[in-house]
Amino acid sequence: MTQAKLIDGNAFSAGLRDEITARVHEIRDGHRITPGLAVVLVGEDPASQVYVRNKNKRAAECGMTSFEHILPADTPERHLLTLIEGLNDDPMVHGILVQLPLPRHIDSQKVIEAIRPDKDVDGFHPWNVGKLAAGGVGLIPCTPLGSMMMLRDHLGSLAGMKAIVVGRSNIVGKPMAHLLIRENCTVTVAHSQTRDLPGEVRAADIVIAAVGKPEMIKGDWIKPGATVIDVGINRVAAEGGKTRLVGDVDFAGAVQVAGAITPVPGGVGPMTIACLLRNTLTAAARLHR
Ligand code: GUN
Repeated sequence: MTQAKLIDGNAFSAGLRDEITARVHEIRDGHRITPGLAVVLVGEDPASQVYVRNKNKRAAECGMTSFEHILPADTPERHLLTLIEGLNDDPMVHGILVQLPLPRHIDSQKVIEAIRPDKDVDGFHPWNVGKLAAGGVGLIPCTPLGSMMMLRDHLGSLAGMKAIVVGRSNIVGKPMAHLLIRENCTVTVAHSQTRDLPGEVRAADIVIAAVGKPEMIKGDWIKPGATVIDVGINRVAAEGGKTRLVGDVDFAGAVQVAGAITPVPGGVGPMTIACLLRNTLTAAARLHR
């Protein structure tokens, strides 16, 4: 049996970051603008700390300025909102990202809505959500954007294909469904109440797995030749008391059946950060137009 082609997110994102770096140098030299990204982290969640460190490192590598705001877990909501107001007004800051999830005493939606939509590089503000749904020029959430870039690169036109998005989160599932509709796919959005998930997945030419459940989607659910984008990043116990990262798809099974698949790690993850930098560059260019 032939194995699926691996869609290499590390290589793809490195190419994208090179393009971004070149454009950052252009607007810095031509317009004296250095794109600036502010990342806000509330609390000490270890996984979030790793993401925030990576985001800052990659921003600096591309020639952007990064501003890190690390606040204690008991930060009052009002303080966070005041910080965001300051970043909204700061001309050095073109992109604002507040790492989710936030501690429970903070209303995430209120925080998202406090960010200026044209600096909302996560694309989570209702203004950007609406632009994506209605078809306009907003900022598109990074993980769906990176997933779509990989799909387009591998498949070319997606028109007429059947796509299933497993998971209906605001961060991935819903915006991904809108992007697929834009590309003229026939889209199914599956979730915890979907009746025959294996049957729904078997019908799809494109599978987007974004449920956050380790290896939930089995290899024998995949239609032969389908393209599988695995958004999940789950840490599970491994031999010798160690842990390892797995996706939402049973990779060992799916790689035998699919036409192409993203590995975990090294698939969607690096594309998300590259798309965050791309959104920051886009925001900087638009803000100074
Ligand atoms: N937490 C997990 N994914 C994301 C993301 O894309 N953006 C933010 N802000 N927080 C996250």
